[in-house]
Formats: sequence, structure tokens, C-alpha cells
Amino acid sequence: MAGDVPRVASKLRRARLMSGALPGWITIRGLRCDGRQGVAAERRAQSSEYLVDISCHSDLSRAVALDDLAAAVDIAAIAATVRRRRARRGTRARREAASRRPRRGGGVGRDRAHARQCGAWPFLRTYSAFSIARAKSTSRHARRRAACIACPSGSSSPATMSTREAGVARRRAGIASSRHAKARSWPVVAASLCGRCVPPIRIPCAALQRAIRPSTGRAGRHLRCCVTRSSTRRSASSLPANTRIRRVSDTRLVPIAPRKKPGFETLAIHAGQEPEGLYGAVTVPIFQTSTYAQEAVGKHKGYDYARTGNPTRTALEICLAALEDGKWGLAFGSGMAATDAIAHTLSAGDHVVLSDDVYGGTYRLYKRMYEQLGVALTPVDMRRLDAVRRAMRNSTKVVWIESPSNPTMKVVDIAALSEIAHKGKALAVVDNTFASPYLQNPLAHGADLVLHSTTKYIGGHSDVVGGAIAGNDPALRERLAYLQNAAGGVPGPLDAWLVLRGAKTLAVRMERHSANGQAVAEWLAEHPKVTRVNYPGLTSHPQHALARKQMRLFGGMLSFEVRGGEVAAKRLSGRTKIFALAESLGGVESLIEVPLAMTHGSVKGTKLAPPAGLVRLSVGIETVSDLIADLAQAIG
Ligand SMILES: Cc1ncc(COP(=O)(O)O)c(C=O)c1O
Repeated sequence: MAGDVPRVASKLRRARLMSGALPGWITIRGLRCDGRQGVAAERRAQSSEYLVDISCHSDLSRAVALDDLAAAVDIAAIAATVRRRRARRGTRARREAASRRPRRGGGVGRDRAHARQCGAWPFLRTYSAFSIARAKSTSRHARRRAACIACPSGSSSPATMSTREAGVARRRAGIASSRHAKARSWPVVAASLCGRCVPPIRIPCAALQRAIRPSTGRAGRHLRCCVTRSSTRRSASSLPANTRIRRVSDTRLVPIAPRKKPGFETLAIHAGQEPEGLYGAVTVPIFQTSTYAQEAVGKHKGYDYARTGNPTRTALEICLAALEDGKWGLAFGSGMAATDAIAHTLSAGDHVVLSDDVYGGTYRLYKRMYEQLGVALTPVDMRRLDAVRRAMRNSTKVVWIESPSNPTMKVVDIAALSEIAHKGKALAVVDNTFASPYLQNPLAHGADLVLHSTTKYIGGHSDVVGGAIAGNDPALRERLAYLQNAAGGVPGPLDAWLVLRGAKTLAVRMERHSANGQAVAEWLAEHPKVTRVNYPGLTSHPQHALARKQMRLFGGMLSFEVRGGEVAAKRLSGRTKIFALAESLGGVESLIEVPLAMTHGSVKGTKLAPPAGLVRLSVGIETVSDLIADLAQAIG
């Protein structure tokens, strides 16, 4: 158990970071030992007390999928205990009367009797988190209460632990048989329900080790669970003098009104980004470290080595998950590192169906590296759903979708393609780099994984290379997080921070990118020397209607062809003054390139090659009339 405590505490701390990301259905708060938020308080919490309050609001099944909690809290066990207790407790009036009865002296006996009756972990019923905290005071009575809520090492589920088993476990854990003596130093889990359900119950930490499973019913809806990591120093006086407990006392709840999910912009700025506790910095610090000091062997504050995890990266991953409306996010050192992590889940004999104008680097990875390892590949024009259906094989494991595609701006039906993938038991993966999460959320259309080169719109300032994957399935997360750590394609702290900073302004940038993109596309479409413009916001785009349905706006990426083909394309690309001739995209500054000669060189000579005379623009957020004037003089 002792080893489990930091693990649980760290998971909960990570989960607490997510509170901003996913409010409305789960919030997690820590007890602020000194009344301030953040790292300092948490550090003190580690050495003195750690209390986290998890409130599951209206939708437990979503809360359940919060992967960071998955191994931490057994909501189903708590809910089951609650239901059992409710069945045994009789009328609400009796329950309320019982909860109002003075506790002094009688609490332990009453709970012991109850424990005998229902087989639950004894003594714990009447003590709220408030009293746990109060118990740290010097009052003898309070100390007794603290002892009562302590749980023994290795204890089993509260529903099955008998008093005798509890005693055995307590002795094994070295807690004096006079249970009020030292038990204060053991972790405590408390679950309490609102007055409409039953009085507070508490369950041992061991139950935290089980995975969350969806829980239904009223009990689940009103459930609150709080976790206390109590003192490793055993004297009551070790608590910080000004311990504040008010925030904890409300663990005894009244029903919680489901909160509205914050908007995209709010999430971008706050998800995973609580003010830092040491000095109150409102911006997530760059934790520029490769390793973390441990209190004892294996006892750390949630991070042990920076390839495995870094708080700056954690903040980014939480934020990205929130922006994609996913349950988890993983950050990588580049878009290709993220792509490779997904490809790494494949083995020889597996088959991938991918978009026939997929990003050149993605094609190269599958073609030159994975095909040699025995992974078969079928590029398909994904606008034709029948062709995708035909391409599916029993061995198809991944359907790789890009929409809009790079560089021809094809838009494909993510929902329909995901359905086809799922029918074939394959994963639908969407490279959402071109659209960004502000314009399109593929998970909402049924995709299993969404991938980003965060180098592009999310980073947004052409000053960092990064990648990300977001999803909902905890098993997929586990697999990819394993690969992230095992292969080590992670972003450094500064890179994670830069991407996180970029994400904060994603919404406003995308609005301007889209407005400028639309204006430039419309202007190009009218130009006599321009033979073709690919931009989903133009009504002439073949999938304009689908793009309207699937995307919020149409973004800043477009491509076009001019009379004179490749030569004319190269000439004009070299003549722009504001549009920089450069690879990459999605930054605030406008870029121009000739894909076949630059970004898409890896598909030259293949079916996937874009037209040699195609020019790609990444329309930035400069003054649009300046951009148009620049193109006008370059096209001539
Ligand atoms: C659509 C798309 N996906 C993935 C990538 C690869 O990302 P990175 O360059 O960050 O590795 C790119 C890069 O241009 C891209 O355009």
C-alpha cells in the first residue's frame, strides 16, 4: 500500500489537472494545505496530507473514461457499495436523523455494528472529509475520528472486508491493534453521497487500484469520492498550522448541477493549465529537467524521468485532449513521431488503407519502412466510399484518413469512412493537421484516433516541431503511451510549452486564417491566369457541402494551378515578397511552395504525386489586401 500511495496520489494529481479540461462531468480538487493552489501545496501535501475530491457530476460513463483515473478509482465499487447501503439503510428520514446524531463516543460502536451487519469496512461511515481534516487538530476526539477513517494496507474491497480481515490487514501493516493509535498515517478513501442518497461512506484505498467502469443510476450520479493521503509523519502537530479544510468539507454534498462544458477558447487557455502554486505563475512553467528527486525508492511526486513524463507535457496533453473533445492526448516530438507510434501498433501481415493524397511523409513511412516489415498498403481515393470498401481486407487494421488533404484539399466523409473502418474492425485514424481542432473534431465524427502535426496550426508560430494523438479508448492510449515512452519520440519541455502557448490563440488565429484563406481563394478563382483553385470554402469545390457539414470554417490552406504549369508555378513562388517560399504551414505568416518539388518530393513518380504545377499556400493572418497584392505582382 505504501508504494501505491504516491501512484494514486500522482494519478489523482494528474487527474486534477484535467479538471479544467473536462468540467461539467468531473472535477477534482486538492486540499490546499496552505490555502494556495499548485505545486507548493502539493509538495506539502505529499509530506503531510493529500486530499483530493472527485466529483462525478452527471455523466459517470464519461468520467469513467478519464484514463488517468482509470486505474485509480473504482467508481463502480463505490456505487455498488452505496446501492447496497441504501438498500439496507431504510428511509431517507431515518438516514438524515442518523447523520444528525452526535458522533462523540458512539460513532465507532455504531459503525462497528454496521460493519458486522453489512460486511463493509467498519468505523468509517460517519466521518466526513471535513472530520478527516479536523482530525489533524490536537483535539483528542478529533484524533480518534482520524484513526477511525484510516484504512489498512492491502485491504480488499469495502464491500467484502470483514472486521476480522481488517484487523489482520491492520496488524500486517503495523498499525497498533488499538486502532486509534497510529492509523492516522494511512491513506483514506472516502465516498459520500448527497442527502438524497445515503450518508457518507468510506472505502479503503485498495479500491482505488481498480479500474473505473461505467456506473449507472442515481447513486452514481450523486456520487462524490474523496481521497486522503494522510500524514507520513505521524504526529497530529505535523500538519501545517494554517491547514484549510473548508474546501473539503463540502464533500458532503447536495446534488450537483451539471455544469456546461466550457467553450473551445476557454479550454485552449485553461485546460490543464492551473496557475502554478509556488509563485502563482499563471502560465505553466517549463519544467526543464530530465529527472526528478524521489523521497524514497519508487516514492515520487508523479514524475520520475522526463521521457516518461514532464508536467509541461502533461499540461499540453490535457489541453490537446480537451481541444479534440477526446478523453486523452499524447504529445510527440513531431507529427511523424506521432504517425510512427500509430504505425508501430501494426505487425507483419496487417494491412493499411490510406488516402491517395496523404501527406508525403506519411506515405513514405508506410511505403519505405512498414511495407518492408510486412505491412501491406492500399492507397485509395477516399472520396469514393465504394473504393474504400473494396480496398478493405480481413487484415486491414488502419484506415488512414486526411481531410482536407495535403496539398490537393480533398475533403472526405470522416463519419462514413469511420463506419467502413469499424465494419472491417479497423481503426479510423484522421490526420487533422490541416483543419486543426478548431475547425474539425474527427472524434466527434466517429474516428478512433486523431493525429496532428502540432508544428502547424496548433503551434501556430513556425517556431516548434511537434506532434500529437488524441482519442477516447483507454486501451489505445495505454498502447500508444507505452510506445511514446518506449520509443521515446517525445517533445522536450520547451517544445511542449511552445505548442501549449500556441494552442491558447488557436481559435482567434483560425478565424483569421479562414477569413484570409477565403478571400485569397475567391480572388485567385477570378484571376485569368489561374486555371484551378482547391479550397473547400469555394462553392465550386466538389465537396463544399460536405466541408460545410464537417468543418466549422475552411481554414487557411489552399492550392492552385496557373497557366504555364511547373515553370510558371516555380517562377511565381520565387517572386512573392510577403509569402515566404518555405515548407511547412499553419503559422501566422503566409507561406508559398510547390509541393512536388518541396514537401511532396517523397511521392514523386508515384500515383500519389500532386500535379507538378500545383502551388500551395498557407495563408497567414497578415492584412489580407497585402497578401492579395503580393500574389497579384507575383502571378503578373
Ligand atoms: C498533414 C501532415 N501530417 C503530418 C505531417 C508531419 O508532421 P511533422 O513535420 O511535424 O513531423 C505533416 C508535415 O508537414 C503534414 O502536413
